[in-house]
Amino acid sequence: MTTTQLAGLLPELEVIRADFPILGRSVAGGRPLVYLDSANTSQKPQVVIDTMVDHLERHNANVARAMHTLGAESTEAFEAARDKVAAFLNAPSRNEVVFTKNATEALNLLARTIDLGPGDNVVITEMEHHSNIVSWQLACERSGAELRWFGLTDDGRLDLSNADQLVDEHTKVVAFTWVSNMLGTINPVADLAARAAAVGAYSVIDASQAAPQLPVDVAATGCDFLVFTGHKVVGPTGIGVLWGREELLNELPPFHGGGEMIETVTMARSTYAAAPHRFEAGTPPIVEAVGLGAAVEYLSHVGMDAIHRHEQAITAYALEGLQTVPGLTVLGPLDAAERGGAISFEIDGVHPHDVAQVLDSRGVAVRAGHHCAKPAHARFGVQSSTRMSSYLYTTPAEIDALVEGLEYTRSYFKLG
Ligand code: ALA
Repeated sequence: MTTTQLAGLLPELEVIRADFPILGRSVAGGRPLVYLDSANTSQKPQVVIDTMVDHLERHNANVARAMHTLGAESTEAFEAARDKVAAFLNAPSRNEVVFTKNATEALNLLARTIDLGPGDNVVITEMEHHSNIVSWQLACERSGAELRWFGLTDDGRLDLSNADQLVDEHTKVVAFTWVSNMLGTINPVADLAARAAAVGAYSVIDASQAAPQLPVDVAATGCDFLVFTGHKVVGPTGIGVLWGREELLNELPPFHGGGEMIETVTMARSTYAAAPHRFEAGTPPIVEAVGLGAAVEYLSHVGMDAIHRHEQAITAYALEGLQTVPGLTVLGPLDAAERGGAISFEIDGVHPHDVAQVLDSRGVAVRAGHHCAKPAHARFGVQSSTRMSSYLYTTPAEIDALVEGLEYTRSYFKLG
C-alpha cells in the first residue's frame, strides 16, 4: 500500500471496529470474520442495538394513537428519528422524510403515485438495481408510458451521448442510481437532476449505495425525490426512507390507505393528511425508525466526509490487490476516486458461486450472483459476478485476506 492510499483511512479504525460486536466473531472453524458484504447489508454498531433494545424494554407503545406516557415517549422517539434523518440528508423540512419499509417500497410508492399516461416517458439507466427498473416497468405497463434508459460505456459509466434524445419534453421521470451496487460507478446526479428539471420532469435518486458512504445533501443534488434503506447505513432492516420536496409530496395521491394517513373519513369518502403521514398508513416500523435514527447519528458522528475518504482508500487498495490476481477482471471503473466501495469481478475458469464458497471457507464473506442487477451484467456479457464491498470498519488486512483467498481459490481449482 502506498502512503497516499493509507492517508484516507479512518484514524480511529480500531475504535470503530470495537463498536461493531459482530466483527469480533470467528467463523469457518475459528477464523476471524472478514465481512466484505456491506453493500448487501451493513453490520450494526452497539449503539443501534442498545437503542432498539431500550426502546422495546422501556418505551414500547404505538405512535400517535396512544394517550398515555409510553405512547407519548414512543411517538417522541419515532418523530425524533425523523428529525435525525432530515439532518442526515440536510433536508429543508422534517415533513419531507417519509418512512417506508425499504428503498424498494419507496421507489414503488413513487412509481405508483406519479401520474403517467400514453405519450409520457420514463428514463432510467442500464445500471439500476431491479427495484429501480421493475417498479417503472410496471408503471409504464399500467399507464401506457414509454420506458427508456441510458446505456453504459465499456468502462462502466453512463453513456450520456444521447441524453438530449432520451430526456425530452415528454419525459415525466428520470430515475437513476447515485452509486451502482454492481459496477461501483458514481453517477453525476446533479447533472442528471438538472437535465430532468430542464424538461419539467421529476428526478428520482436511488441513494441506497450512496447514503452509506457519501455525504448526502438533497438540496445540493437539485433532485426532487431520493430514497435509501436503513440496513445499509448501519441501521436495521424493515425501514427505508423516501425524501421528497414537500410541495411535490403533497401533490401526490396516497399510496396505501389506512389509519393515520387521513384527515377525515366518512363511509363515502376520505380526505388525506399532508406529508409525511399521508404516506405512512398503518402502524409504522417504530423501533426500526428509532434504530435508524441512532444509525445516522452514529455515521454523522464519525463524519460522512471521513467515511467517504476511508471508502476511497480501501477501494484503491482493493483495486490494486485484486488486479494482482491472474485471470481476474474487475467490472466497472478502475479509478477509486470515481467509484464506491462495491467491486464486482470475475475470475477466468471459476464460477462466482464457487469463488464465494471457497472464500467463505476461509472466513471471507462476499456476495456472488447477479446482485439484483441482471441488465448491468448482461451489458458486460456475464450472468453473474463475485462482489466484495467495504465499509467504514473495513481494514487493509481484510483486503489482504480477500486477495490471499482468491489466490487460494485459483490453486484450489488448479488454475496455476
Ligand atoms: N442488497 C442488494 C445488494 O447487495 C441491493 O446490492
